[in-house]
Amino acid sequence: MTEKIEIAGFGGSLRNGSYNKLLLELCKRNMPDNTFLNILDISGIENFNEERIKDSPQKIEEMREAIMRSRGVLVVSPEYNYSVPGFLKNVIDWLSVPPEKNPFRNKPIALMSVSGGMLGGSRAQYHLRQIFQFLDADVIRKPEVFISFGGQAFDQDGNLKNPLSMKFVTELLNILVSRGLEGAGH
Ligand SMILES: Cc1cc2nc3c(=O)[nH]c(=O)nc-3n(C[C@H](O)[C@H](O)[C@H](O)COP(=O)(O)O)c2cc1C
Repeated sequence: MTEKIEIAGFGGSLRNGSYNKLLLELCKRNMPDNTFLNILDISGIENFNEERIKDSPQKIEEMREAIMRSRGVLVVSPEYNYSVPGFLKNVIDWLSVPPEKNPFRNKPIALMSVSGGMLGGSRAQYHLRQIFQFLDADVIRKPEVFISFGGQAFDQDGNLKNPLSMKFVTELLNILVSRGLEGAGH
């Protein structure tokens, strides 16, 4: 039996009923063959403090390990005030140090976002690209997955109503896995 390829996924928002959480779950159900999405819990993580780099929260170390062992990372994020939500940036800041333990170096990363408005979280996604640029990650350029009007985008089973959106989601997941299999990040 061949071992399944692991992809780490995180983001969403902390609220129940988050559309970004719905999209993460949708991705989990639609991963390419022989692949599974390990959704990481990022709730309840205290604020980053540089004095605690050598004493980071247990949850952060578990995340770091999961990301290191995965072949790629999927980040699904809402947009707050035209940028990355503070809780998500906080998690990335914790993980980014010490630099020799940065789990994102050369790691293929796929970004997706859902927003309540028309631009689908694109501004937050572009800020995430900038952050991962500093962290030497291999962020996939296209297709870009921006889901607008989150409140109307999903049906009652949590599937995307627009087949074109679903096509882009599937395409991006396939590219993420094939990039991971090329060996980047290992
Ligand atoms: C603090 C806050 C700031 C927001 N700022 C933006 C924004 O800049 N752009 C946008 O498109 N939507 C913004 N929204 C609306 C979110 O897109 C919407 O609440 C979305 O459903 C959040 O994602 P979630 O469903 O995964 O929680 C904001 C919402 C909150 C709570």
